Amino acid sequence: VSEPPGCAALRDQYAQVRARTLELAAPLSPEDCAAQSMPDASPVKWHLAHTTWFFEVFVLEAGSESYRVFNPAFRVLFNSYYNAVGDQYQRSQRGLLTRPDLATVRAYREHVDAAVDGLLARGALSAREAGVLEIGLHHEQQHQELILTDVKHLLSCNPTHPAYRELPAPPRQRAAALRWHREAGGVCWVGAGERGYAFDNERPRHRVFLEPFELASRPVTNREYLEFMRDGGYTCAQLWLSEGWSAARARGWRAPLYWEPHHDGWRVMTLAGLRELDLDAPVCHVSYFEADAFARWAGARLPGETEWELVACQAPVKGNFAESGLLQPAAALELSGAPGQLFGDVWEWTRSAYAPYPGFRPLQGALGEYNGKFMCGQQVLRGGSCATPGSHVRASYRNFFYPPDRWQFSGIRLARDA
Ligand SMILES: [Fe+2]
Repeated sequence: VSEPPGCAALRDQYAQVRARTLELAAPLSPEDCAAQSMPDASPVKWHLAHTTWFFEVFVLEAGSESYRVFNPAFRVLFNSYYNAVGDQYQRSQRGLLTRPDLATVRAYREHVDAAVDGLLARGALSAREAGVLEIGLHHEQQHQELILTDVKHLLSCNPTHPAYRELPAPPRQRAAALRWHREAGGVCWVGAGERGYAFDNERPRHRVFLEPFELASRPVTNREYLEFMRDGGYTCAQLWLSEGWSAARARGWRAPLYWEPHHDGWRVMTLAGLRELDLDAPVCHVSYFEADAFARWAGARLPGETEWELVACQAPVKGNFAESGLLQPAAALELSGAPGQLFGDVWEWTRSAYAPYPGFRPLQGALGEYNGKFMCGQQVLRGGSCATPGSHVRASYRNFFYPPDRWQFSGIRLARDA
């Protein structure tokens, strides 16, 4: 839709994004990088290879006749889900790929980086190819977040609570009192316009009709979530969606993911190891079902994604993103009159099913599989988290996960009918 940046700008962006991925992997051993803790999470080595595969298949093979493929077997090994590209190695078995080893995957990255950099240095990309390369950079940023969430899950499986790396303690302060922000609704425009980068699922910009509603001034805190737990939130079926109640029972949920009871209160597994629960920080690692049950208990509901966007598009895209280095949600420093913490800290579950916008057109070719084919059975989350690169998010950004998923930095913001 919009013009991609020129080759010189893309060359800088490419170098920065690719280096950042290696920076995220730097604290990890080869053993850390090889293991897979569950089917939803991938080994870091696989993330490192798959993001490289994306550029090899969609930019280099498609756009450069002289490009020499690094290893033809990688076409299948590191294809995530693109049927138009061919077969894929089974997702749940990615942790069994002890070969190629980490050093070979690093060499693969260098091989592809040199070829891409050569193309960009020569200015040898058409506008279409530059557009695909730009998608590859946003794709790699998505995997940067997954590296953090997948490593956190992996390390949480170890009873010694190892730290990913040492991290500064988030600022401890009292969360501001929750206030309600009223919106009149009516006919509103949502979705990404034609300018600037956006994924196909954010377009086209279109009108929706919204009844008057209120949005909470900040996300739900751990203190508030504890009240829900103490009030029998996990044992009262009336609060839960039927599917949620079944999931909570089958999986034995009694608290958010990564919470551990101690004699003197709850501890939580973080990327810095086990820490005391910060009661003022936004609650995190809850499923859609838990978010929905909490909202019902609180006499409220979750926001619709377009309600959320209507408020968020009036706010600056600032917050506790991965660059803050906390890698943990934190209580807001200061809240002005408008709702705060819309961006960063925690992804906010919405009650909107992930579905195409009116007039949605997937990208042409294999990249049409990027978003469109997942528009069934998932819920939209908004706003980015403390593990999201800050330059990756915008008000129209639509993330999506299955209702029982808890390993992303997912939290709760309340809404209600006005
Ligand atoms: Fe991917």
